[in-house]
Amino acid sequence: MAQPLDIMVLAGDGIGAEVMAEAIRVFDWFAQWRGFNANLRHEEFGADAYRRTGRFMREEAFADLLKSDAILFGAFGGTLEANPIPPEIRRKFGLLRIRRDMGLFANVRPIRCSPALVNAAPLRPEITREVDFVIIRELIGGIYFGEPRGITDLGNGEKRGVNTQVYTSSEIKRVGQYAFELAARRRKNLTSVDKSNVMESGQLWREEMNRLSQNHPEVALNHLYVDACAAELMIHPRRLDVLVTDNLFGDILSDAASPIAGSLGMLPSASFGAPRENGVRPAFYEPVHGSAPDIAGKGIANPCGAILSIGMALEGTFGRSDDAALLQRAVDAALAKCRTADIKEDGLPTVSTRDFGSAVLDALQKLRASTA
Ligand code: NAD
Ligand code: IPM
Ligand code: MN
Repeated sequence: MAQPLDIMVLAGDGIGAEVMAEAIRVFDWFAQWRGFNANLRHEEFGADAYRRTGRFMREEAFADLLKSDAILFGAFGGTLEANPIPPEIRRKFGLLRIRRDMGLFANVRPIRCSPALVNAAPLRPEITREVDFVIIRELIGGIYFGEPRGITDLGNGEKRGVNTQVYTSSEIKRVGQYAFELAARRRKNLTSVDKSNVMESGQLWREEMNRLSQNHPEVALNHLYVDACAAELMIHPRRLDVLVTDNLFGDILSDAASPIAGSLGMLPSASFGAPRENGVRPAFYEPVHGSAPDIAGKGIANPCGAILSIGMALEGTFGRSDDAALLQRAVDAALAKCRTADIKEDGLPTVSTRDFGSAVLDALQKLRASTA
């Protein structure tokens, strides 16, 4: 058997632990029945850890994290307000630090409506049916990291808050290249989203995408302004195949697209960096949602985003797209039988996070039996 891969598991805050527990049960099923070989190492990470220990995670573990073959991540955020962590600390040592230090420039967020959810999703069935597109979000540039930034006291009772939206050609090209290659493997349609009618960084974004397009004649490139794109998502999501955009627009558009999938709890994601010297491509798998303090601890969170992120790991890190497809079928089958509260539907039982995880495992066993 091949050398086991080193996978670090950071369940994180709030519902992170609840959804990760189900994702790990699913991963263990694949290890047992489909021959996956990996060492899983669990580490504490997050705002709750920070409050208790003064650190988001152990510094030695952070060094190991940078060497891991992949990270499975739950959520970052913690329960808020009583004792908020200063934004400066969150930014320097939290999730954004991991993304930046791992060099995770391409965040892949698939948007799909399971056939079982077509009637439960908030949009009309004729809009959501058969939607299947992917948002590629640039993850380590733009306004999230741009300088100058900060809040200055102007001394006259006024303060000024500043952030900088900045992109270089190479930052745009590496994520653009990733998006063109993905589109070439799919329906060969790439939509680049910017605000080039107002922002110079958007002008450069569009220019670089047009330049890349010359090397990919097989892919049809089109452009949308981000405001028009937000509307297009709700009206014609089926027209989309691969969408590429910057860090902030990608953050917003992916949550905005979540009603298409039924709920924010449905969406998985994977983030990738450039291959290391040993050929391993840094990879980070996490649901799109956050720590959901409003429902944390109740055992009612939807684990699909976390479970489908395991599917993205089966494909992205283990190279097993057949197993990723098997898991997708199992999740679809489980959704046809029962639901968590966020996607409940008359006539189907509303179940806990744990029971939904069990329904996915049951479906996997049945699929295995039927193909054995
Ligand atoms: P959120 O994604 O945590 O929650 C938004 C809404 O969606 C809430 O009503 C929540 O109950 C619901 N929701 C989210 N996931 C769900 C699930 N799996 N099942 C059912 N319902 C679900 O966003 P927020 O409330 O704006 O932020 C809470 C905290 O999480 C903040 O600290 C924020 O910074 C952080 N956050 C972290 C990540 C991440 O770790 N990648 C992503 C988004 C937000
Ligand atoms: C996400 C989250 C993060 C982001 C936060 C928690 C920093 O909203 O992963 O979508 O804004 O990137
Ligand atoms: Mn977000």
